[in-house]
Amino acid sequence: MEDLGIAAWPPEPIRTERLVLREPEARDRAAFIELLASSEVHIYLGGPRPREELEREMPEVPERWPGSFVVELDGAMIGQILLRRATGHRRPAAAGKADLGYLFLPRAWGCGYAFEACAAALDWLAGVLPGEPVVLATQSANVASMRLAAKLGFTEVERFEAWGAEQWLGMRSPVTPSS
Ligand SMILES: CC(C)(COP(=O)(O)OP(=O)(O)OC[C@H]1O[C@@H](n2cnc3c(N)ncnc32)[C@H](O)[C@@H]1OP(=O)(O)O)[C@@H](O)C(=O)NCCC(=O)NCCS
Repeated sequence: MEDLGIAAWPPEPIRTERLVLREPEARDRAAFIELLASSEVHIYLGGPRPREELEREMPEVPERWPGSFVVELDGAMIGQILLRRATGHRRPAAAGKADLGYLFLPRAWGCGYAFEACAAALDWLAGVLPGEPVVLATQSANVASMRLAAKLGFTEVERFEAWGAEQWLGMRSPVTPSS
């Protein structure tokens, strides 16, 4: 995976009805550690990273790169959205395409925040890279992620085995305005 390699970064914070999407800041460090060390968050993602390692290695300002959005609710980080370029993706249908990932703190699940934030991030992407399809890979056993992908308009390309589990590859085609 590589970053999106776009010049238009960082954007102005993106405001939705309840949330703000913005670049990581120093005040997000603890929430990043909580997110990356959470075993609940990483059930379908190959397991969490050790908290001590994160405490040691996480920079003072969590890494900033084009396509990494912190999702903020009432002034505090609740999740991260990752839009990357899927360079070298193991599935040819996804290789080189824009790729969506999302991680939210468990206390923020079940409120529609992930949907609201991802929809805004996809709108932003459609503005900076018009006409680009977006891919998304998730374990098919990850029911919440599969539901979110469907709500966002991703449709199945294929299922494949990797990392000891069935993976689902979805794609969201750009909306072409009808003439
Ligand atoms: C995947 C993940 C982001 C989904 O989070 P989520 O909160 O379930 O997703 P949504 O934002 O779509 O919220 C949906 C739920 O909010 C409920 N909801 C409550 N209020 C709502 C509102 N105002 N608007 C919309 N939905 C609302 C919906 O009914 C739905 O609940 P349901 O699934 O029980 O029907 C979350 O489970 C997560 O972070 N998992 C760990 C990381 C991961 O596995 N990522 C996938 C790798 S790409």
